[in-house]
Amino acid sequence: RLTVNAASERSYIMIKPDGVQRGLVGDIISRFERKGFALKGLKLFQTPQDLAEEHYSELKERPFFPALVKYIVSGPVVCMVWEGPGVVASARKLIGATNPLNAEPGTIRGDFAIVSGRNVVHGSDSPANGEREIALWFKEGELVDWEPTVLPWVL
Ligand code: TYD
Ligand code: MG
Repeated sequence: RLTVNAASERSYIMIKPDGVQRGLVGDIISRFERKGFALKGLKLFQTPQDLAEEHYSELKERPFFPALVKYIVSGPVVCMVWEGPGVVASARKLIGATNPLNAEPGTIRGDFAIVSGRNVVHGSDSPANGEREIALWFKEGELVDWEPTVLPWVL
């Protein structure tokens, strides 16, 4: 059994508006649950324009930035915090390549999407960005401090 500390890496995972509209919420959450990661935060949320811009601020000079922000605010998203050893890199594997045509079958984007501009889900690209994004999307008190009782069978 790893210590809580060793398991404490966190990723910000978000089901984008297309994933919500297409009824993929349950399937996507199930993939992270079945892997064994711990859900620490979850909400349905209508994203304000300024938050979408801040979340993707590293991309603000890219030509697709306005369309990306418009996409993210176009409908409700599902915001999540998942925790566990190596969760950031593992979630990126579960999600698949940015361009869904390059994403392997069995990944979320590989199974459900065709174009980068409608690629269903977001996952943090580093533990530091995970913490940055969690602080952006969740307020104090919205995250729950708990350990699933199944953890001794996983870790
Ligand atoms: P990026 O952080 O590079 O990808 P990822 O989501 O895999 O971390 O880009 C953020 C989002 O911007 C990406 O999910 C979809 C959108 N995007 C485009 O629409 N076109 C592009 O060419 C790229 C690179 C990204
Ligand atoms: Mg990214």
